[in-house]
Amino acid sequence: MSEQASHTYAPPPAGLPGLSSERKIPTHVPEGLVFDPPFEVANALTDPFSLNKKTYEELPPVFWWPRARPGRFDGTWVVTHYDDIRNVYQKEELYSTEGTANFQSLVGETWPMLPIAVDPPEHGKYRILLNPWFSPKAVAAMETNIRTTINDLIDGFQDKGEVDVAYDFGRVYPVRVFLDLMGFPQEKLDEFLDWGYSILHSRYKIEKIQYGVSSALVFLRDFIAKARENPVEGLASYIVHGKIEGRALTDDEVIGMVFFLWVAGLDTVAANTTLMMRRLALEPEIQATLRAKPELIPDAVEEFLRVQPVVNSSRLVKEDHEVRGVQIKKGDHILCYNIAGNFDDEEFDNPWELRFDRPSNRHFSLAGGPHRCLGSHLARRELRIALGEFLRRIPTFSLKPGVDHTVTPGLVATPHLHLVWDPKQKP
Ligand code: HEM
Repeated sequence: MSEQASHTYAPPPAGLPGLSSERKIPTHVPEGLVFDPPFEVANALTDPFSLNKKTYEELPPVFWWPRARPGRFDGTWVVTHYDDIRNVYQKEELYSTEGTANFQSLVGETWPMLPIAVDPPEHGKYRILLNPWFSPKAVAAMETNIRTTINDLIDGFQDKGEVDVAYDFGRVYPVRVFLDLMGFPQEKLDEFLDWGYSILHSRYKIEKIQYGVSSALVFLRDFIAKARENPVEGLASYIVHGKIEGRALTDDEVIGMVFFLWVAGLDTVAANTTLMMRRLALEPEIQATLRAKPELIPDAVEEFLRVQPVVNSSRLVKEDHEVRGVQIKKGDHILCYNIAGNFDDEEFDNPWELRFDRPSNRHFSLAGGPHRCLGSHLARRELRIALGEFLRRIPTFSLKPGVDHTVTPGLVATPHLHLVWDPKQKP
């Protein structure tokens, strides 16, 4: 497999929709600290994140990235080193999550995504409400359902010797699990897939994202109204009737929580599943190791999570301060570049090596601090079952010859990835 990819710190592309026409770099940002690293550059490398190696090694540990997000801001500070990233996640007095995942603003709504977009101590009240549904015990109780869901999908392609593992597996099973968790009807699967895809895979096509958000909101609001009248099984109805410190939740709080859970838990699992299967297809010796020792699967999933961080979280700066001597101002944004922090050799030995025997693996793929992923136990269990069942039922697989295996590091990952195997072979 030829490994090639360009690596330049190019200036950002002009004219992205939703950005101000004039890109203003704040005056407190020194010119020498402005860089545009190859974050989310599509490539066909075995390890698609390895492009970012130089970001860590060659760029200053704190730099200004002048690329904006539609409708959000004109640029951001980036921290790439483990300790700095941990500080940003943990120091809630300096860094706020306000405005995170602001998809609702694209359809003119103003409620916050919950619990992500509120700071402690308010934030903790929402976590107390939601935690019981995501505890290790609660997730363990979902094991049988997750396993059945995954095996039903494998039943559909096992004998064919081929699957688009991104589109027909990774994209689908987390949505099925989620519908059951929330108490939403399974018949809504195709619509949920369509809306989610429109929101998270449309890049800068604003109308498509708006379509996904507004369609989802129509369904969710209708479900919420009915559940208010007649409570039903599941997390969505539990939230509708939930209380915080004895008071009922407002409509905005209910929609903020239900909507964010949906955004947070689907494509993240899908992207990780696809990237994991892609790596196994490109390196069959890893399949052999895990088939011979399935007890390694939990550590393998943890290591796959580390080497494929699909989310880089951003924070709003609350007070002027310095990071490594660089002046950061109140109102700036700061991005935790997990894509570099997870490969910091001060924290991880041989960080670019995929190893299933790391004595400690405290990566940032599920973030850190108070907003650490609420669904982490569920995500891990889904990935472990998906990997375990796939290896148990599908013999040695590889990429379908000639198909594109380009991926974009990050949540977009890859929409399609065709795998093949010999169905006559035993796993
Ligand atoms: C491999 C899959 C997943 C990854 C990589 C992932 C990643 C993350 C990250 C990085 C954050 C922190 C964001 C920030 O601090 O700005 C986060 C938060 C969150 N995640 Fe996940 N997540 C995954 C699966 C899930 C699942 C399955 C659910 C639930 C269905 C979920 C629900 C949440 C929620 C509710 C938050 C906000 C927590 C808070 O603000 O307190 N996630 N996730």
